[in-house]
This record gives sequence, structure tokens and C-alpha cells, in this order.
Amino acid sequence: MKKICAVGFFVLTIFCASTEAFICDYKDIENIHTCIIFNTSSTFVQSDKEVLRVVSNVEISIDDMKEILTNFPKLESLEILNGKFDSYRSSDFPSSCLLKNLQILRGQLVSLASSGLSACTLLTSINFSYNKLASVNKNAFDSFQSTLKTLNLADNKIDFTTSDIFTTSNSLPALESLNLSSNELSSFPQSGFAFPSTNLKKLDLSFNKFSTIANTILNLIPSLEELYLYNNSMTEISETQFSGLTLLKKLNIGNNNNISSIHKDAFKNNIALEVLNITRSTVTKLEKELLTPLTKLQNLDLQDIKIDNSSIENLKDILSSLTDLKYLNISLNKIGSIDGIFSSSKNLVELYINEIGLEKLSENSFDNLTKLEVISLNKNSLESFPDNIFKNTLGLKVLHASENKISQLKTSTFEKLEKLEYLDLSGNDIKGIEKNFFDKLKNLKVIKMSNNECLNEDILSFNSSSSLSKFDKCFDDYNSSPTLIISNALLILALLLKFV
Ligand SMILES: *[C@@H]1O[C@H](CO)[C@@H](O)[C@H](O)[C@H]1NC(C)=O
Ligand SMILES: *[C@@H]1O[C@H](CO)[C@@H](O)[C@H](O)[C@H]1NC(C)=O
Ligand SMILES: *[C@@H]1O[C@H](CO)[C@@H](O)[C@H](O)[C@H]1NC(C)=O
Ligand SMILES: *[C@@H]1O[C@H](CO)[C@@H](O)[C@H](O)[C@H]1NC(C)=O
Ligand SMILES: *[C@@H]1O[C@H](CO)[C@@H](O)[C@H](O)[C@H]1NC(C)=O
Ligand SMILES: *[C@@H]1O[C@H](CO)[C@@H](O)[C@H](O)[C@H]1NC(C)=O
Ligand SMILES: *[C@@H]1O[C@H](CO)[C@@H](O)[C@H](O)[C@H]1NC(C)=O
Ligand SMILES: *[C@@H]1O[C@H](CO)[C@@H](O)[C@H](O)[C@H]1NC(C)=O
Ligand SMILES: *[C@@H]1O[C@H](CO)[C@@H](O)[C@H](O)[C@H]1NC(C)=O
Ligand SMILES: *[C@@H]1O[C@H](CO)[C@@H](O)[C@H](O)[C@H]1NC(C)=O
Repeated sequence: MKKICAVGFFVLTIFCASTEAFICDYKDIENIHTCIIFNTSSTFVQSDKEVLRVVSNVEISIDDMKEILTNFPKLESLEILNGKFDSYRSSDFPSSCLLKNLQILRGQLVSLASSGLSACTLLTSINFSYNKLASVNKNAFDSFQSTLKTLNLADNKIDFTTSDIFTTSNSLPALESLNLSSNELSSFPQSGFAFPSTNLKKLDLSFNKFSTIANTILNLIPSLEELYLYNNSMTEISETQFSGLTLLKKLNIGNNNNISSIHKDAFKNNIALEVLNITRSTVTKLEKELLTPLTKLQNLDLQDIKIDNSSIENLKDILSSLTDLKYLNISLNKIGSIDGIFSSSKNLVELYINEIGLEKLSENSFDNLTKLEVISLNKNSLESFPDNIFKNTLGLKVLHASENKISQLKTSTFEKLEKLEYLDLSGNDIKGIEKNFFDKLKNLKVIKMSNNECLNEDILSFNSSSSLSKFDKCFDDYNSSPTLIISNALLILALLLKFV
């Protein structure tokens, strides 16, 4: 017996075992549909609901889909996983097709027939991601070209040159979101290229093979608010690459390992940017002009952009103009010191400064970061935390400080952090912890202390709060003598007893 379970739109995929009774999941979600047992005699539970998600552990044929559509004449939304058809024709859809949202995911679609969806004139959203589409015919969507807002063709084999949908400007004038992530795109055609909509707000070109994009291309869509170009092979970002995108809020050009130059005025006009990700570009020397105009930035990812301490003064100037910043990652850059860098970052909530060659923190490093909730400074060379360093970061919930050279933890330094939930001090040189170290840290849920020395038993004085879920003992991986192993085993036993 072949069985299909249909569950809520936002509910996890359920794979039905054929021996089980059919599964319904109505939950409290609106627009929830039905469950159908689908077998050779094709018995459906009729439904007057409008949304159907068909998830199956068997492949669904085009006739199966046709049958579903016939049995659910009011369907507005259909999602099919594991379709085994490589195309569809207009006769596969009912003549009074009411679909607004059609998703055929992880299927075998190879081509989209011209006018194949001609009966469905109301479609606003199409998602054909994870198929084998190589080209997209401009007539594939013609019966709803003025209503289609979202088109997801990610994870296919699409190439601009063989898809004539990219030659007719405004063939889909209502389109706001176009996802071409993970296809075979390597360059825009030198001539005759057009975006199907000049009203696009969101464009995803990530995981393709672009090495350059002509300066004129992206500026053809000044309406753009989100642009994703990560994981390509881009080599440079020119002054005018994004210069027409004045409404852009999110830009991700991260993981383009080959970007060896970003023009210092590359983002000059993108003053609406709230999220900028240039992870793993080669910037080498950070120019002030590159980022100071972006005063609306909230989220800035500069991981591994190959800058060193010669960029520190500029980084300071940049951060003092980006006062709205909530999230900052400058990990993997050898800047060596953070003195005075964050004095204006009053809104910062998450700060990642892993592997930046830090040897020392000063007492007022985090003084003005009163909203900070997460600090991550793994893989540096810190030997201690200055006494008063956390005096103003009283909302800190997460502290990652693994793989440093910290040997001492002072109770007075940490005891203000009453909101702390997660503390990772693994891989340091901690030899002991004061008896009352954890007394005031009542919200701690996770403590990681493996790969330290921690030879005193005082750690046992830790108040076992009921919220504690993980306690990595100090002795994990500790390469100790047999007697130590025995005493460690006793300690572990004692800890276990304490926590039951
Ligand atoms: C098909 O499903 C119906 C219930 O919907 C069931 O009564 C019938 O036995 C099933 N047929 C087969 C061949 O499994
Ligand atoms: C389309 O399907 C993919 C999964 O293949 C999913 O990640 C995405 O959110 C879906 N919706 C849209 C609008 O892209
Ligand atoms: C593009 O589609 C892929 C796969 O469906 C999805 O994972 C990704 O989040 C989408 N991109 C955007 C910007 O929504
Ligand atoms: C970088 O460019 C070289 C050739 O210039 C190429 O071989 C390599 O695959 C590219 N790397 C990435 C990550 O794109
Ligand atoms: C920046 O982009 C890279 C590549 O997509 C990703 O791995 C990283 O998580 C992004 N950073 C943020 C803060 O989203
Ligand atoms: C994306 O880029 C990152 C960094 O270059 C790389 O580690 C990762 O493997 C890439 N992912 C894919 C799927 O290519
Ligand atoms: C940068 O670090 C080097 C040592 O790695 C040091 O000699 C130099 O003075 C530092 N420069 C600045 C501007 O801090
Ligand atoms: C910040 O960058 C570091 C180093 O690449 C990485 O390990 C960490 O996951 C990043 N933080 C976030 C939240 O992505
Ligand atoms: C904190 O901010 C004030 C201005 O609001 C500034 O005068 C002071 O130097 C900053 N303190 C630190 C330690 O950065
Ligand atoms: C923590 O332990 C101390 C004694 O070691 C005790 O006075 C205190 O009440 C304990 N706190 C909690 C929350 O259990």
C-alpha cells in the first residue's frame, strides 16, 4: 500500500510507515488540511481545505499529482516532495485551477513546458528547488506572469544562456523574489540579458560560479533590498558593482575566497545596508571609507578578511560611526588588540573575536558594551581576565573563552554575571576554581571545562542548579597517571551522585 501523509504547511516532514494508521496533524495552525491514504485504488479523504502538503516515502507520479488535484478542487497550495515526473503538461492541471502556491521539490523536473501551467492563472509563488531544470522557457509562466511574486529555482542546472526567460525584460513584472542559488551560472551574457522583473527585491545567486559580474548588471534592478552572492568565485568588487542599489538592506558576498580587492568606495551608495557579510574576502588593509558611510548597519561579518594590526585605527573609526551595530564578527584577523575599539558600540549584542591574536584584555575593554549578551574569544592567548572587565556587561549570557592560556579564574571577576547561561573555558590552563566561584551564577546551564588541569576538588562546591544540563568535567582528555585516573573517576562519581 502506498501512503501519503499530508500535514501542516509549517509542520515537519512526516514519512509514513505503510503499516501505520494514517497520521493527521491538525495542531493549531491555520489552513491545515488533511491526511490521505493513497494506494492503488486511490481512495482520498475529501477535503474542503485549501492547503495540501504531500510528503511521501514513495515517489509520486504525474498521474498521482493529477489525481490529487482532481480530488482537491479547491486547493490553493500544493507541495509535492519526491515527484518522479520530469515535466508536466497543461492537461495535468484542472481547468479551474485555483492554485496560488505550487512547490515541486526534490523532484525530477528537467524542463518546464511552455504554457504547462496555463490553467492556473492565480499563481503567486512557485518553488521548484532541487530538481534538474537546465533551462527556463519564458512562456512557462505566461498565464500568471502578472501575479507571480516568488520564484525559487535553486538547486537546479540553470544557465542564463539557455534560458530565454533572461532575455525579455519584465516578462514577470510582479516578481519580487528570484532564487537561483546553486545552479550552473558563471557569467551574465554580454548582450541581450534581462532580469524578468525590474521590481525585484530579493535575488539569490549564491553557490554558483561567478568570477566577475559586469558593473552594469546588478544596477539594472535598483529596487533590490537583498542580494546574496556568497560561495562564488568572485575576484573583485569594483567601485560601481553595487552603486545603483541604494535600497539594499542585506548584502552577502562572503565565502568568495578569490576576492582580492574591494574598492574603497564599493558600498558608498548602499547607505540603507543593515546586514553586510564579506567573510573570507582578501581586504588586507581596511579603508575607513569602505564602511563608515554604512551608519544603519546592524550586522557586520568581517571574519577572515586578512587584515592585521595596521588596520586597527581605521577599524576604530569605522566602529565609532556604526553605532547601531548589534552583531559583529571580526574573528580570524590578526589584529592583536582591541583596546578602545568598541568604545562607541553601545548597541552591540553579540561580539565574535576568535583567533585575533589577543594576548591581553584591558580592564575597560567592554565598558560601554552594556547590551552585550554573547562574547566569543576562543583561540587567543589570554592568560587572565582583568578584575573589572565585566563590570558593565551585566546582561552577558554566553561566554566562549576556549583554547586560551587562562590559568586563574577570580570569583570576583565573574560573580556579577548573574545572567550567564553558558560558559566555555575548555582548553585552558585552569588549575583550580575557588570554592564559591559558582555561587552567584545561578543561571548557568552549560559549563565546559574539559582540557584543563583543575586538580582541586573545590569544583564540587558548585551549586547544582536544576537548569544545569551539561557539565564537562575538567578531566576529559586529561592525560593522567593511573592514580589520577582513579581519583578522577571518584570525582566523576561524586559529581554524578550530586546531580541525581
Ligand atoms: C486503499 O485504501 C483504502 C482506504 O482508504 C483501503 O480500504 C484499501 O484496502 C486500500 N487498498 C489497498 C490495495 O491497499
Ligand atoms: C522552497 O523550497 C525550499 C526547500 O527546497 C525551501 O528551503 C524554501 O523555503 C521554499 N520556499 C521558498 C519561497 O523559496
Ligand atoms: C534559496 O533557496 C534555497 C533552497 O530552496 C534556500 O535554502 C535559500 O534560503 C533561498 N534563499 C533565500 C535568500 O531565501
Ligand atoms: C580561485 O581562482 C583560481 C584560479 O584563478 C581557481 O583555480 C580557484 O578554484 C578559485 N577558488 C575559488 C574558491 O573559487
Ligand atoms: C556570512 O556569510 C557566510 C557565507 O554565507 C556564512 O557562513 C556566515 O554565517 C555569514 N555570517 C552571518 C553573520 O550571517
Ligand atoms: C562555501 O565556501 C566555504 C568557504 O570557502 C567553503 O568552506 C564551503 O565548503 C563552501 N561550500 C560549498 C557547498 O561549496
Ligand atoms: C603590529 O604588530 C607588530 C608585531 O606583530 C608590532 O611590531 C607593531 O608595532 C604593531 N603595529 C601596531 C600599529 O600596533
Ligand atoms: C564568527 O567567526 C568565527 C571564526 O570564523 C566562527 O567560528 C563563528 O562561528 C562566527 N560566529 C558566528 C555567530 O557565525
Ligand atoms: C564610553 O563612552 C563614552 C562616551 O559615551 C566615552 O567618553 C568613553 O571613553 C567610553 N569608554 C570606553 C572605555 O571606551
Ligand atoms: C549555594 O551554596 C551555598 C553554600 O555552599 C548555599 O549557602 C547557597 O544557598 C547555595 N545556593 C543555591 C542557589 O543553592
